[in-house]
Parts: sequence; structure tokens; C-alpha cells
Amino acid sequence: MAKQDEISYVETVSRVDNVSVSDFTSYLSRKPYSDISAGDYLMDISQLLKFLPPRPARVLDLGVGSGWTSEIFAHVGYAVVGLDISPDMIEIAKSKVTEGLNLRFYVHDYEKPFSFGLFDAVVMYDSLHHCENENQVIENICAALTPQGLFLAIEPGRGHSRSKAAADAARKYGTTERDMPFHYVKRVLVKKGFREVKQYMCLKQLSLFDLSKPTDGLRQLRHLVWLVLKTVRLGATSVIVAQK
Ligand SMILES: C[S@@+](CC[C@H](N)C(=O)[O-])C[C@H]1O[C@@H](n2cnc3c(N)ncnc32)[C@H](O)[C@@H]1O
Repeated sequence: MAKQDEISYVETVSRVDNVSVSDFTSYLSRKPYSDISAGDYLMDISQLLKFLPPRPARVLDLGVGSGWTSEIFAHVGYAVVGLDISPDMIEIAKSKVTEGLNLRFYVHDYEKPFSFGLFDAVVMYDSLHHCENENQVIENICAALTPQGLFLAIEPGRGHSRSKAAADAARKYGTTERDMPFHYVKRVLVKKGFREVKQYMCLKQLSLFDLSKPTDGLRQLRHLVWLVLKTVRLGATSVIVAQK
């Protein structure tokens, strides 16, 4: 049922949480600005932009939900195709297609082969961990990339599936919530033919200290070291950058 639950997510959330479909749709269409974690979302998109190839490259965005990441990429100057398995999500995403943007959205299961042309980069933001067969997804990505193509992802790391938020979502809405730590994703990417797979710290996890206080400078440094260890050793959420 998990895949069907991904497809009917908008309707299920509205029913289970007793919110109107139009209120939930309004929240989704204004994401990330409508979300309490807007700052975190915007930090993540900044990190993704840092690694994308120069404009105007072709970008495939997989598991786009309401399409906000694709819309930002298109505004920045990329030619973007966004896919999602949920027709409700794609309907919301399509409302972001305005004149002057090179932006298209389609309903498609990223676990099934696709033919939307060749891309310079494929992005997965917070969506690979919803799949049932990551080997198939990465194989599809490989086939959609140019010979020098880039794969970029930010996915929840180790412990995500046991977190309260993920466990609640799986129980209430039936969505698939898995861990996608860097070392595991890297193994799959290398197996499917990616030459180089890099791991970067996900900056939204960095707490900031008041550097005007000498003691806080030390606390900031300690926190930074802790975050590096958490990322590398404990499999915390990372930015994954892979070259074909
Ligand atoms: C946590 S949401 C993230 C959405 C979007 N990237 C964002 O940041 O708002 C995960 C998305 O993956 C989509 N998804 C799940 N399984 C999928 C599949 N097999 N093929 C395509 N999209 C899928 C869901 O419909 C959902 O929109």
C-alpha cells in the first residue's frame, strides 16, 4: 500500500488530520515559506545551488512534491523538469509554471524507467528515502544523465525512520520513511557506475553561537567538530554530490 499512500497523500493528510483539502493545498503551494522550518528549507536549496553545474544546464528534479525546488532552480536560470508520483502534488506544481520559466512537471513514478531527455544534473531533495527500490531509482538516474552528469541529494540520514516525526507519518499516512545515510547511498551509486561520490555537511544542522563572547567561540568550534563527526561517523543527514 505504501506507493498508493504516496499517491493519495494530500487526500489522506486532509482526512486524517481533519484539515480541508484547500487549506492543505494552500500550505503546499506556498512551501517553503508557509512552513515553520522555512529557514532550514532555504538553507538546503542554497547548498544545492552551490553544487549545480553552471546555468543554463538541464536539471531533473525527482519527487518534487508541490514543486518549490524546481521553481527556484528555474528562476535561477536552469531548464527544469520535475516529476512526482502524486497527481495532486503535480497539479499544485503546475501552477508555478509561468511565462519565461523553463519549467515542466509530470506525474511519474521515479522507480519506473523514464524518457524525458538527457540532463546535466539530477536532484533528489528529501524524496529518495520514500522509495521502495533505491537500486532501480539510481539506475534510472544514471540513464537520464549525460556522460559527465551530476547527482545531487539531501536525504535524511541514520535514525530518520525511528524519529517521532517519521514514525508518526508512516503510521498516520502510510508513507515510506527510510534511512538514507551517505555510506549506504554511496555504495548504491558506485555499484551503478558513478565514479566519484562526495559527502558534505548539511549546514542547517549547524547551531550558531554568539562569537562576540570568547567562551562561545570555543563552543562554536566544539559544535562544528561534533557536527563533522556526526556527519561522517554517525551517518547524519549529508549533502551527496556524485559524478558519473
Ligand atoms: C517528503 S516529500 C518531498 C517533496 C519535495 N521534494 C519537497 O521538498 O517539498 C517526498 C515526495 O516524494 C514523492 N514520491 C514518493 N515516492 C515516489 C515515487 N516512487 N516516484 C516519484 N515521486 C515519489 C512523494 O509524492 C512526495 O511528494
